[in-house]
Amino acid sequence: MEIIIQPTPEAASLLAARHLAQLIREKPNAVLGLATGHTPLALYRELIRLHREDGLDFSRVTTFNLDEYVGLPPAHPASYHAFMQEHLFAHVNVSPSRIHLPDGLATDIPASCRAYEEAIRAAGGIDLQLLGIGGDGHIGFNEPSSSLASRTRIKTITERTRRDNAYAFATPDAMPHHVLTMGVGTIMDARQVLLLAFGAKKADAIAAALEGPITAMNPASILQMHPVAKYLLDEPAAAKLTRLDYYRWVYDGKPDWQKV
Ligand code: F6R
Repeated sequence: MEIIIQPTPEAASLLAARHLAQLIREKPNAVLGLATGHTPLALYRELIRLHREDGLDFSRVTTFNLDEYVGLPPAHPASYHAFMQEHLFAHVNVSPSRIHLPDGLATDIPASCRAYEEAIRAAGGIDLQLLGIGGDGHIGFNEPSSSLASRTRIKTITERTRRDNAYAFATPDAMPHHVLTMGVGTIMDARQVLLLAFGAKKADAIAAALEGPITAMNPASILQMHPVAKYLLDEPAAAKLTRLDYYRWVYDGKPDWQKV
């Protein structure tokens, strides 16, 4: 685990963007796993800036998003298709044919989820999976009690996550009850994971995920078993970690080439 604590979400997002940009420069046909929500917004803004001002080239990059609401057409403003267009895809030169999100309108959901897994495999697997974390430790929409070996499938959103995400919908009741999400096992197959967490309301989930036991009750805790897991946290999200000073000491002591 590489735990990097930054003073602000902006500082952490700049580091994350620099890390992604370095990957894309080293491997122009990189396969990225992407997330939605508040957490990656500043990171996406910085990637757009790097594309516009520094020529960061997305033309050969392939993307797979973590999740999508069941029943929402891509054009629905609260869909994750629309979110990704608005916050990243419309502003960089990623090829539409290389963009993948689960199909919230699939009529045969199990077949569509199997096809999503197959598309990830056919693309060569995910080089870097970007993650946020729910206040209950969910990654993707793998809520507590999700199998830690799960693959892409349909899941029921918990009441808590429904409350947290209702802001995107005209009324809370308009929010679907189901999502398609990559599984925990799908996420674990990525060659590298980069989890971002900002704000005090993530502090309990982060402390449990990083320092607690591995348990399906906090699906992010399985990332302790991932060989290349990096965590970019702001101070409030890191506040409940017991070994804060140690994490800072380790990061500060790294040679520049090894730092994110
Ligand atoms: C988003 C996703 C979710 C979010 C998580 C945190 O695609 O899969 O796991 O990362 O719910 O959401 P925010 O960033 O809005 O706090």
